[in-house]
Amino acid sequence: MSPPRSPPAPAKARFWDRIARKYAADPIADMAGYETTLRRVKELLSPEHAVLEIGCGTGTTALRLAAGTREMLATDVSGEMIAIAREKLAAQPLPQLRFEVADADAPVAGAAHRDVVLAFNVLHLVSDLDGALQAVLPSLKPGGLFISKTPCLAEMNPIVPRVLVPLMRAIGKAPEVLVFDSAKLQSALERNGLKIEAVERHGTKRKDMRVFIVARKPHWSHFSP
Ligand SMILES: C[S@@+](CC[C@H](N)C(=O)[O-])C[C@H]1O[C@@H](n2cnc3c(N)ncnc32)[C@H](O)[C@@H]1O
Repeated sequence: MSPPRSPPAPAKARFWDRIARKYAADPIADMAGYETTLRRVKELLSPEHAVLEIGCGTGTTALRLAAGTREMLATDVSGEMIAIAREKLAAQPLPQLRFEVADADAPVAGAAHRDVVLAFNVLHLVSDLDGALQAVLPSLKPGGLFISKTPCLAEMNPIVPRVLVPLMRAIGKAPEVLVFDSAKLQSALERNGLKIEAVERHGTKRKDMRVFIVARKPHWSHFSP
């Protein structure tokens, strides 16, 4: 009898599965900007918080943040990314942290029990921004925080999203992306019931097209997605 086979990776995971080892080995391009983001997020977390991170990649950020939380689940659509994250966790055990494969476009299991949801460098990669927000926000407690950092490709030279990215996609060197600017991203967050509390840029090198946003799910809202 042949051994059980794991289910095939969804098409959207294949690009990330292929590049996962290289992604893990590449240095962070703007370490000072990354440290500023981590510092800001740490200020907003507390040891009582249950945290979900979507699109966690190889777990670098979750491994830096989990010690300041009660529990942290970090998920990614790519099984290879999660395999690397688990290897890193095995080398640096943190009882609060676990990694799971999950698609940010699919509804998150469990009712509103998370204090914070994190989404770093992933909201431009989901199939549908409103759909992904509607999938994850029910898991956030009223009063909870949605914290994101997102490349706004519409703020780049238009040749990049209109010509270069499609060309790179055609040869398998780029994933599918959503192209929006910070204003459109903020509108999507507000449309999905969040109240924006901070909009920042942490980059220290040239123009930073990645916007860092802190948004809160109100305690009382007539909103139901
Ligand atoms: C640019 S990397 C960012 C990783 C990490 N958050 C970071 O900031 O370094 C994008 C990650 O999003 C994941 N991703 C892409 N589409 C996704 C989806 N639909 N659901 C969950 N994760 C997704 C990829 O597998 C990849 O690990």
